[in-house]
Amino acid sequence: MSLREKYLLICGNVRPEDDPKGSCGAKCPGLKALLKDELGRRGLHKRFRALESSCLDFCASGPTVCVMPDNVWYAGIRKEDIGEIIEIHLLGGKPVERLLNRQALRQTQGPEQGRGNAMAPTSSSVSLRKAKPGWTP
Ligand code: FES
Repeated sequence: MSLREKYLLICGNVRPEDDPKGSCGAKCPGLKALLKDELGRRGLHKRFRALESSCLDFCASGPTVCVMPDNVWYAGIRKEDIGEIIEIHLLGGKPVERLLNRQALRQTQGPEQGRGNAMAPTSSSVSLRKAKPGWTP
């Protein structure tokens, strides 16, 4: 099995209702299954993989979805957003601007890269590519 072009990490963390942090899994249950099903329905499951993760540390702005290796983070994702993420980001190669989690962008890419292209390679992603010959994004 070869690596997929992109991996979508979908926070499915669920906390008790009274937890002030909130939880992505409670806000949009079944998001990972829906995304996985849609990728399969479109015949894209061999190019892209949807994975359910535990907390990705952006609980307040969740549901959180992170697309790797692009290092693009989305906030407040609803079931209705899935098609747009697939069409514009996965197939079109551009992040869905209206869904971007800009706080995550600043924290994961630093102030210089965070202001510009969300899909600009970070030093860590460049290092990963160098470390894994034959890996193509
Ligand atoms: S519960 Fe989803 S990011 Fe923390």
